[in-house]
Amino acid sequence: MQTIAVIGAGQMGSGIAQVAAASGKSVLLSDVSLALAEAARAKIEKGLLKLAERGKIPMEDAVATVSRITPVGDYARLGEADLVIEAATEREDIKHKIFEAAGKHLAPNAIMATNTSSIPITRMAVSSPDAGRFIGIHFFNPVPLMKLVEVIPGLATSVATIEAVRGFVADIGKEIVLSQDEPGFIVNRIFVPFINEAAFVLGSGTGSIIDIDKGVKLGLNHPMGPLELADFIGLDTLLEIMKIYLASTGDPKYRPAPLLQKYVEAGWLGRKSGRGFYDYSGEVPVPTR
Ligand SMILES: NC(=O)c1ccc[n+]([C@@H]2O[C@H](COP(=O)([O-])OP(=O)(O)OC[C@H]3O[C@@H](n4cnc5c(N)ncnc54)[C@H](O)[C@@H]3O)[C@@H](O)[C@H]2O)c1
Repeated sequence: MQTIAVIGAGQMGSGIAQVAAASGKSVLLSDVSLALAEAARAKIEKGLLKLAERGKIPMEDAVATVSRITPVGDYARLGEADLVIEAATEREDIKHKIFEAAGKHLAPNAIMATNTSSIPITRMAVSSPDAGRFIGIHFFNPVPLMKLVEVIPGLATSVATIEAVRGFVADIGKEIVLSQDEPGFIVNRIFVPFINEAAFVLGSGTGSIIDIDKGVKLGLNHPMGPLELADFIGLDTLLEIMKIYLASTGDPKYRPAPLLQKYVEAGWLGRKSGRGFYDYSGEVPVPTR
């Protein structure tokens, strides 16, 4: 697979584009507008140049990686891609529309994939041109640093598609775990309810933000506390994931924490909006409660 298209140039899509380009792939990067795709490329460039200036990567690698990323404003060039990875907002209606519109341009042997955290692959495959060539490729945040990729075949995904995706994941230097198409797959099925529970613990006044994060870091040997990690992932994304678990299992143990909902309603989405459980406007993050 030489040419990759990424639809949705937010945190994840930008990370996927960067990693694919760094491993020598040509990347077409799109969002709701060309301006957003261009802004995402500029952000990737800024980050890579900073790494090069600090001596973490060679400057020529940084420049070459950025040069392989082409922002696009529509799906007209999608036919050039061997693999299209959708990484747009975690809303099923948005994703279905993308698969329908982008699917019209998909090359005959190309694979269409979604980076969804929680929406069933089999259900989304219905909106793509060929369910045999549709698959889940779930990256972890931040994509350049996290080694793992979960691969999730839908009911109709062909063995050839799975094998081609295995090759792509190996090419970009990541490790695979294969998951059945169940809500949350393997890792998030365990992990997102854990973060949601931390929001319940905060909402019930059992502990402060600082003590919840400190407790989990020192008591469970996690590198980050659940609330700081929630801010990193995006509270809107986490809320959507809990809603999807609840809707798809009907099990009330997956009900979203009211405080998580309230933060999202306030527009406090985490690092990406400048405020979540912590406020990021100053030099050091400050807890909001
Ligand atoms: N944040 C995480 O830690 C994480 C981890 C793994 C997977 N994911 C999944 O990755 C996907 C993206 O999450 P994110 O954290 O990057 O979100 P984000 O909010 O940072 O980015 C989403 C991007 O999608 C764009 N978008 C919205 N509608 C679109 C459309 N119709 N066409 C093209 N682009 C569109 C938005 O403009 C935005 O740039 C979600 O499905 C999420 O569940 C997130």
